[in-house]
Amino acid sequence: MPNSTPNFPHASTMDILFTKQQIADRTREIGAQITADYAGHTNGQPIVLIGVLKGAAIFLADLARSIDVDNTFDFVAVSSYGRAKVSSGAVKLIKDIDNPIEGKHVILVEDILDTGLTLSYLRGLMLQHKPASLKIATCLDKPARRLVPIEADYVAFKIPNQFVIGYGMDYAERYRGVDDIRLFPEEAAGH
Ligand code: IMP
Repeated sequence: MPNSTPNFPHASTMDILFTKQQIADRTREIGAQITADYAGHTNGQPIVLIGVLKGAAIFLADLARSIDVDNTFDFVAVSSYGRAKVSSGAVKLIKDIDNPIEGKHVILVEDILDTGLTLSYLRGLMLQHKPASLKIATCLDKPARRLVPIEADYVAFKIPNQFVIGYGMDYAERYRGVDDIRLFPEEAAGH
């Protein structure tokens, strides 16, 4: 068993919230929904999936393979300050998109929509580039935690206010490679 410490318990000891099969099924459904929404409406242009590093990388990889409309990828990275308990609301872009999105149909892809600060910042930023359209897809949505009004167009799962890891999501950069979504135990958090 890989190292397991009180602060970083092994993922196998954590309760499963969504199995990899449940995640795969929902991702396929959302891909089909996106296909239905965009097929024949993009003037032959690929849609642009913009993933928010690093958490959304795995969801984006699976979602892209479930969408039957030509698509390209790009990635942005942000850092946020004091996100944990009392958020300052300050989000800073640390990696911008590589290719222009003016006139393109764009979907921002995120792992979790939590307070909404990250996605409202990114949405504002992306709209400045004048895309033909801009939508949001998120694997998880925690509506109870919202500090700013923002909703995603495509949501795989709505969850209560619980801290989760796996399927790209981390606690202190760990557990991103866990292939199902698990509840991180509160007694191990806060270090
Ligand atoms: P927001 O700006 O509060 O909506 O921040 C969303 C970001 O916070 C997500 O992209 C995640 O990186 C992180 N986050 C929020 N909740 C969780 C969680 O339960 N597990 C892991 N990361 C989380």
